[in-house]
Amino acid sequence: MFITFEGPDGSGKSTQIKKTVQQLTDAGWEVVLTREPGGTEISDQIREVIMSMKNKQMSPRTEILLFCSARAQLVDELIRPAVAAGQMVISDRYADSTLAYQGFGHGFDQRVLKDLLDFTTGNLWPDLTLLLDIPPEKGLQRRLSNKLEWNRMDDYQLAFHQRVREGYLSLAKASPERWQVINADQEADKIQAEIMRILQDRLK
Ligand code: TMP
Repeated sequence: MFITFEGPDGSGKSTQIKKTVQQLTDAGWEVVLTREPGGTEISDQIREVIMSMKNKQMSPRTEILLFCSARAQLVDELIRPAVAAGQMVISDRYADSTLAYQGFGHGFDQRVLKDLLDFTTGNLWPDLTLLLDIPPEKGLQRRLSNKLEWNRMDDYQLAFHQRVREGYLSLAKASPERWQVINADQEADKIQAEIMRILQDRLK
C-alpha cells in the first residue's frame, strides 16, 4: 500500500507523519518512510539545489523538472521496489505537490503536468492521500514561530500559497476515492486521532 501526506507549508505534516509511523510500527506494520523532494542520495542532492536561498533566480520550469528528477529517482530506487515487495510506503509529499505548487501555484497547465508526472512516476500513484489542510497564513506563521528552516519555497508570496491550498482542495474534490481532507488547524492530538481513524478504516 502506498500512502502520501500532502498539505501547505507549516501544516504540521512531518510531526503527524512521525507519530503515524510510530503507531503503525507499534501495531506490527513494517513501514517504509520517505519524503519529497529527497529520499535517496541523488534526490537529496537535487533537493539542496531546489531549496537553496542562493537559487532565487530559478525559473519555475527548472523547478518543475528538478522536482520530477528527484521523484523519478525516488520511485525507481525506493518506492516501486518496496510497493512491489508488498511493503507499506508512506511519503511526506509526492506528485500531487507538483500539481498543487507548480500547477495551481505557478499556473502551469494541469494536463501537461499530469502527463509529465505519469512519465516521472511510471504511472505509480498513491492508494491513499491525506491532505492536512490549513490556511496558508497560519501555516507560514507556524513555520516562523517554530523556527523551522525558511527555504526558497516558503519565500513565495502569500497569494501563491493561497492558490496552492485551493489547488489541493480541488484535487481532493476531484478524486474523493483517493483523498481524505483533514483539518490541520486544530490540536495535534485531534489531528493524529483523525489520521489513525482513516488508516484503520482503510487497513481493515
Ligand atoms: P518540505 O520538505 O518542508 O515539505 O518542503 C518542500 C517544499 O517544496 C514545500 O514548499 C513544497 C515544495 N514542493 C513543490 O513545490 N513541488 C513538489 O513537487 C514538491 C515535492 C515540493
